[in-house]
Amino acid sequence: MTVKAYVLTERGLLRSEQVAYPMEERGLQFGDGVYEVVRLYSGTYIWLHEHLDRLYRSAAAIRLAVPFSHEELAERLEQLRRMNDVREDAILYLQVTRGSFPRSHAFPAENRPNLYAYIQPMARKTEEMARGVRAILTKDVRWEYCCIKSLNLLPNVLAKQEAVERGAFEAILHRDGVVTEGSSSNIFLVKHKTVYTHPATERILNGIVRTKVKEFCAELGIPFIEKAFSVSSLAEADELFLTSTTSAITPIVQVEETLIGNGEPGDVTKALQAAYQKATKPLPTA
Ligand code: PDD
Repeated sequence: MTVKAYVLTERGLLRSEQVAYPMEERGLQFGDGVYEVVRLYSGTYIWLHEHLDRLYRSAAAIRLAVPFSHEELAERLEQLRRMNDVREDAILYLQVTRGSFPRSHAFPAENRPNLYAYIQPMARKTEEMARGVRAILTKDVRWEYCCIKSLNLLPNVLAKQEAVERGAFEAILHRDGVVTEGSSSNIFLVKHKTVYTHPATERILNGIVRTKVKEFCAELGIPFIEKAFSVSSLAEADELFLTSTTSAITPIVQVEETLIGNGEPGDVTKALQAAYQKATKPLPTA
């Protein structure tokens, strides 16, 4: 699906064909930047402020100044949505980099970051969410600060590609025998009606949907334990699921060749999917 006509940049709203960055762009050359992906359902941003809070946290962690304040950015993103007349299911992609300067590893002397944000239609993954998906296992070879949503995604790209080549939907990453997260998702295990997931340490990205699942569990009286689980415990799980902005809550019914539970989405996962559905039912857009 193609990108919508108007793009928000550090210079304001532009038509997409007017957006071009020089070769010496630090996001391109060093991955020196941070990003967010935000869901829109029927043209309404879902949990936009939570995503923007995380964007500013990621930026601060790499000592990068975002060109606009939180409130101003939110306002401009709403303008972007209106200018593009978005009414369908879509995603917003937003990135901020340290700018365009002659290539040198150290920070440029001047503070002139680049920012661009665009909206692209994206349908809900209803089939995967209903039936469940298969995942593979692969080693987590990433750096120490996976809590920062940085543009350095090469290990994630390689892990996802391995999943695709092996006919799976996602790669579950593990470090020292412990499951951390997916290549672009958080991973949850259900045992005896209790939900387990890796604690929100530097080893994972604390997903926005992950934080919502925690809230749904509290509302539904489902115990939610932030404790890492091992690769070997996967085979004994009653249920497994993943969460992300693009995949919402998706059951994992098979890992490598092992079926999880009876190989079908389980009751806890389905209850959480229903809670997600209720929480994200968009209000009519103005
Ligand atoms: N990725 N972990 C990683 C490594 C991720 O890249 C993502 C999301 C998540 C889930 O976070 P959230 O619930 O906030 O989407 C966890 C986005 C969707 C992407 O890179 O496309």
